[in-house]
Amino acid sequence: MTTDNLNNALSFKHLFSNECLSRGESPIKTTMKYFLDPEFHFLGAGMPPLELFAFQNFSFKSLDLKNYSFNEIQDIIINKNDKFEEHVNGNIVEDELDSDILIERALQYGNSRGHPSLLNFLKIHINNTFKPIYKDWDILINNGSTYGLESLLRIFCNPNDTILLEDLCYSSTIEAISAQKINTVPIKMDSNGIIIEDLEYKLKNWETCYGDLKKPKIMYLIPNGHNPKGVTLCDNRKLKIYQILKQYDIILIEDDPYYWLQMPQYKKPSFKDDQFIDENKPETDINTNQDFLNKLSNSFLSIDTDGRVIRLESFSKYFGPGTRLGYVIGSKQILDNIWNYHEVSLQASSGISQLMVNGLLNRWGQLGYLNWFKRLRVVYTQKRNFCLNSLYKHIHQFDINEYVQVEEAPKAGMFFMIYLNISKHPEYNQKLVELGKDKIVEYFENLFFEKFIQSKLLLAKGSWFTVSDPCHNVVNINRCMLRGTYAAVTPEKMNNGLKIFANIVKQEFN
Ligand SMILES: Cc1ncc(COP(=O)(O)O)c(C=O)c1O
Repeated sequence: MTTDNLNNALSFKHLFSNECLSRGESPIKTTMKYFLDPEFHFLGAGMPPLELFAFQNFSFKSLDLKNYSFNEIQDIIINKNDKFEEHVNGNIVEDELDSDILIERALQYGNSRGHPSLLNFLKIHINNTFKPIYKDWDILINNGSTYGLESLLRIFCNPNDTILLEDLCYSSTIEAISAQKINTVPIKMDSNGIIIEDLEYKLKNWETCYGDLKKPKIMYLIPNGHNPKGVTLCDNRKLKIYQILKQYDIILIEDDPYYWLQMPQYKKPSFKDDQFIDENKPETDINTNQDFLNKLSNSFLSIDTDGRVIRLESFSKYFGPGTRLGYVIGSKQILDNIWNYHEVSLQASSGISQLMVNGLLNRWGQLGYLNWFKRLRVVYTQKRNFCLNSLYKHIHQFDINEYVQVEEAPKAGMFFMIYLNISKHPEYNQKLVELGKDKIVEYFENLFFEKFIQSKLLLAKGSWFTVSDPCHNVVNINRCMLRGTYAAVTPEKMNNGLKIFANIVKQEFN
């Protein structure tokens, strides 16, 4: 389908916050087009002069991914006096859309939506991957997903508004929401993401469940490699979820920083005469791009006809969190309002960071970018398999199966979750009498956390990620949760850490 046949997004102005509605456009922003016109006598904005920019050149090295070879390094050099014609391997490039970002642009005010060539690259990337199905979708560069969420809260929420979250959620999201005095309502999850029946039930019976609590405007989901649970929302739930959100006029924020860290299914090891047998084939590089793309899950963007899905993308997990670069995909109308907020807060994302990421991506091209993701898949699969194999090995060796349950193996991302069956702990009944149901999980969570810390092992507490229900909190008092990660841990530390874990569990439960 060409874009000519597509409709524009719906207007969601009726859902905007008071703050958003009262914020106008920055008047100076509208003048930037004149600044870029060399014929213009531009005396209108306070821009520092180019000759006083001290940086003369940006020179850095990156992997050369054009041909999926990971041992080739390329030099990227961007000089102060470069002009578009001189860029990109000596080829004449007339169009700013397909070139390096000039230093004079990168270091100057302006381009607060993002630099055109980076935006262009990302637009093609998103179109190739998700093929949004309304006409006026757009992209806005920001400082990563944490900032992306914060700005969306400001665009849509007044204090006392309500957001739907998965019942476990990335802790910074919970903090950001509660700092703005916004209510949260958790939707139950299983190993395949949120449970549709719970979502449907709560929305249908809102007054019965939540009384006067405002009806939700937003739902926030982490669809792939959920943080902290590690699970992935399965594709066959997505359309139904979208239809429900449409029925109740709810905006969906799809925070998906682990999308390109998707992995093949993990198979648990078996043990024969106490011999460990790894059931996973070594993950090898995938041959064709189509093969690779076919294995990936869908984005809500691909089913969104209304423009009610706002997708947060981040380079943090692909190029490093220090890039502080990400982007939002959504309808132009919503993005314009985020842009207005950027103008008075962020202004623009770092031009230097954009220059570097853009310099790399333009040399790699779309296929090179895909090659990078293919590589991430291989490496993350190795890390995950090593971690879970070690975990199961130690659980078996320390004979602690009945005290430990491992969440379904992650199909994406960097997190795994372990549940401890605290009700089997020898002190459980006594502590339940002493502390009551409200405090029992907290007690054991702290006990294990402290024991692990004393042995120099850190696993994150499940309570840091728990979204409590404002009206009827139902807590499973028989278990406590621990989140682990295999991303930046050496095999040796991983193995030792999990051995410490198993040893402490064994000591405590016996
Ligand atoms: C779900 C989720 N969103 C956002 C972030 C942070 O992303 P960024 O570095 O782009 O702000 C994280 C990082 O852990 C995350 O797990």
